[in-house]
Amino acid sequence: MQKAEVLILGSGAAGLACALRLAEQGVRSTVVSKTELCSGATLWAQGGISAVLDAADSLESHVADTVQAGGGLCDPELVRRVVARGPACIEWLVERGVVFTPDETGGDGRLHLTREGGHSFRRIVHAADATGAAVATTLADLVLAEPLITVRENAFAVDLIRDAHGKRVVGAYLMDAHSHEVVAEPAAAVVLATGGANMVYLYSSNPSGASGDGIAMAWRAGCRVANMEFMQFHPTCLFHPTARSLLISEALRGEGAVLQLPDGTRFMPRFDERAELAPRDIVARAIDHEMKRLGADHLWLDISHRDADFIRSHFPSIHARCAELGIDITREPIPIVPAAHYTCGGVLSDAAGRTDLAGLYAIGEVACTGLHGANRMASNSLLECLVMAEGAATDITERRPAPDGASLAPWDASRVTDSDEDVVISHNWQELRRFMWDYVGIVRTDKRLSRAAHRVALLQSEIEEFYGNFHISPDLIELRNLVTVSDLIVRSARVRDESRGLHYTLDHPAPHPDARWSLLAPGEETPKLLPIAESRLAS
Ligand code: FAD
Ligand code: SIN
Repeated sequence: MQKAEVLILGSGAAGLACALRLAEQGVRSTVVSKTELCSGATLWAQGGISAVLDAADSLESHVADTVQAGGGLCDPELVRRVVARGPACIEWLVERGVVFTPDETGGDGRLHLTREGGHSFRRIVHAADATGAAVATTLADLVLAEPLITVRENAFAVDLIRDAHGKRVVGAYLMDAHSHEVVAEPAAAVVLATGGANMVYLYSSNPSGASGDGIAMAWRAGCRVANMEFMQFHPTCLFHPTARSLLISEALRGEGAVLQLPDGTRFMPRFDERAELAPRDIVARAIDHEMKRLGADHLWLDISHRDADFIRSHFPSIHARCAELGIDITREPIPIVPAAHYTCGGVLSDAAGRTDLAGLYAIGEVACTGLHGANRMASNSLLECLVMAEGAATDITERRPAPDGASLAPWDASRVTDSDEDVVISHNWQELRRFMWDYVGIVRTDKRLSRAAHRVALLQSEIEEFYGNFHISPDLIELRNLVTVSDLIVRSARVRDESRGLHYTLDHPAPHPDARWSLLAPGEETPKLLPIAESRLAS
């Protein structure tokens, strides 16, 4: 097959790194992005990438912190594997030209390490407060210069294509984002690197494309999904009428910022001895609790006690964006609220990114590997993207799956017409994200989840009917995927009869004595809660 041997859907950290790793092994790939090449949550990442680089730190400590933040649902073996590759992945990035902030105190070429919630040591490598942009732009330039990699921007993956037996993925349907024409693209292996589903919520720190496309495509193709109820809310997004989605990095708290009530009182020490540096589930829940108790529409984050030059040099982007909005973070507190940030669950995949279907890999935020358990620790996501990209590339290279010679069924648009009422899409998009926020947010109850289930079912049937009758468009595809993922989240949340990590419900406030993953298989109505060892894919 002269065309793409490997089709990589998504060009965030996971997709770009996978393409480069494949090229290093002589394997040809095509990287597909539904927007530009430099896109996805990666481009927006701020705080950094966790890796054990300080002599005082240790692999054991990074593993222990990750497992503790994960509320008992991490797979410790997988955690160790990923964390152990951290330093080598940082070296790989540095060798490829990513410029991280140096440690100016030592003058010995070491990198500056910052700290974030849940970490016992300073172990976050960063490029000031725009780490994702530094990684994404450097890797994207390398991808564009690499002859073994083809880039397809504005190409929207609609669905996966399986072989005649339904057991192997042999390609994907790609829609041109402008003309909406759909082609069947063959591949010997497909890598899902499509990121998370955080746009299911009304307020999110994510770019608008985080619509769970990869999770929904894998689900429709027959893959199991795991732990979908664990949606992470970042504690500190800017509260501002015109600037939605500006994250205020956890690294501010790592460098001393404190959370305050409207009257200026610090409150986190009442909730956890680690105060502002407790894991995210605890901090977000504490903020939510205090906002509801006081009827406040936001709380405050204050770093103004630190030296103004230090703030400007460590957080130049956040400083500049806030200044544009009239907030001088060197002199005054920042208004903040929690917002949906990260999808901890996803397509069940193993240490090499393999899924239930032969020829299909899932890496990065789209996947559920067992690294994050019930709550991801800060800056462990970019780490996972890099490590899993390497693992999947190695596995694909070793297996060298033979291209399927069979011709693929073309996209069938013979029974659809042009839509006469696109308002259905915009209305349902708003409605879905509003009730997911109200009923399936930071604090849940059985009643709220059952209300959400009812509404998801109504929307699903309306959207499927629309999809069956009219030509597709990017908005329709994203909405269809968002409602599918919402259904998976709500179904998974409803079976979890406990509070653990990011799933907190007033009806079952204590954790169950057993640590169980929720596994949902296509064709099954109710997810199974299974011990971790029985949930993992056999490698
Ligand atoms: P993404 O970077 O989200 O990329 C997804 C790609 O898939 C995009 O190219 C998109 O165009 C493409 N795509 C999606 N659907 C389709 C489709 N249907 N067809 C074709 N292409 C498609 N994590 C950290 O570890 N450290 C941090 O400091 C950090 N800061 C963050 C700050 C913000 C504001 C946000 C939102 C997240 C942050 N995270 C951080 C989380 C982290 O950035 C993401 O989890 C990670 O970047 C995900 O990478 P990815 O490659 O899996 O997906
Ligand atoms: C942040 O900078 O606060 C985001 C870090 C992360 O999501 O890992």
